[in-house]
Amino acid sequence: ETATDLYYTVTAQAGETQILPGAKTKTWGYNASVLGQTIVFPVGKHIHVHLQNHLKELTTFHWHGLAVTGPYVDGGCHAPVYPGETSDIDFTLDQPAATTWLHAHPCPSTAEQVWHGLATLALVTDDHINSLPLPHDYGVNDIPLVLQDRRFHENNQWDYRADYDPDGVQGPTALINGTVNPYFDVTTQKLRLRILDGANRREWRLHFSDDLPFTQIAGDSSLLAHPVTLTHLMMTCAERAEVIVDFKDYKEGDTVTLFSDDVPIVSFRIHVFAPDDTTLPADLLDVQAPLPDPAMPVRKVVMSGMDEAVAIDGKKFNMQRIDATQQMGQAQYWDVTNTNTMHGGMVHPFHVHGTQFLVVSRNGHAPYPNETGFKDTVGVNPGETVRLLVRFDLPGVYMYHCHIIEHEDGGMMAQIQVI
Ligand code: C2O
Ligand code: CU
Ligand code: CU
Repeated sequence: ETATDLYYTVTAQAGETQILPGAKTKTWGYNASVLGQTIVFPVGKHIHVHLQNHLKELTTFHWHGLAVTGPYVDGGCHAPVYPGETSDIDFTLDQPAATTWLHAHPCPSTAEQVWHGLATLALVTDDHINSLPLPHDYGVNDIPLVLQDRRFHENNQWDYRADYDPDGVQGPTALINGTVNPYFDVTTQKLRLRILDGANRREWRLHFSDDLPFTQIAGDSSLLAHPVTLTHLMMTCAERAEVIVDFKDYKEGDTVTLFSDDVPIVSFRIHVFAPDDTTLPADLLDVQAPLPDPAMPVRKVVMSGMDEAVAIDGKKFNMQRIDATQQMGQAQYWDVTNTNTMHGGMVHPFHVHGTQFLVVSRNGHAPYPNETGFKDTVGVNPGETVRLLVRFDLPGVYMYHCHIIEHEDGGMMAQIQVI
């Protein structure tokens, strides 16, 4: 072991979790009975991860948002770890600080394994983000919010098969960090929330009581170029957002509620806090857009259909088939179209493994103000074409797919070889 090497062990395991009063719920997690402890990866370190599968079925360990060599280190369906077996991977990260995550990705049971609880946050940190005047005290003023939803059946159990829907499984109960109806004791004026839409299908339309404004500082894969003040935030599956909430107008004994649509999902109970007048820098990140070769054609990707009919470019996923190639280090525009407009259509969250892209335009118009940073997942609205600027810096085969996980398992996925 040297100063530049860091060692981790991640075990996928089954357990039981007290979520509701009464019977415990059978759940899966990473080094935990459900979800897992947040993992921290500093950039530039040589990271070694020992993967263990203590489940009775095969799983994979996918690092959603990490730029690592695909497909084995990346942990998509090409990288099974069989029951009782282990695997060792190592990588060094060279990417901006970000809130990324780990989830199971065996095809075609990704959705079911994530539903059981195989998802946890992995934070990428670097000197730049550590130097910014942001809340940095994890668990105190820098907290995760993993947003999921479940249906609790008899004896408080989850039943994926009973709830199955090819357009994505949902439940009526918000599950936040693996808990129901959570509250958080606020002891600082400013709070940083690292929000992950970890649901299989659900979109979240977040807002606070009193329409309290908040400031988004980061998206999926990096800080935003500039902070953006919002009162409402929509998140699609697998997207992340970091926001700063300022409770300066509240006092001890108050409660601030976070809602999705009109459903309260988290209460923030205000305690005494010291005044905090730190201000965010107007520029958070110098976002360097890679330069595409003008001679390079635009790659077209079409997401179509609903239910069992979902497809990418008219095809279902086939692990034996390479659907596209791209030169390593060469940026290319991708025009991603959602043709699914029947009955109002669905938003398909489009995700690419092993890269961080920029959102260039939506139907030829500027992207949303909170899309100025790097991302790895983007919600594509019905009838919309979103232009992305995509560059891979490592070789390998990478999957790209809809992140409604049942759509991914249903074949709305393809793979690209980076050469
Ligand atoms: Cu969250 Cu194929 O990934
Ligand atoms: Cu991924
Ligand atoms: Cu979809």
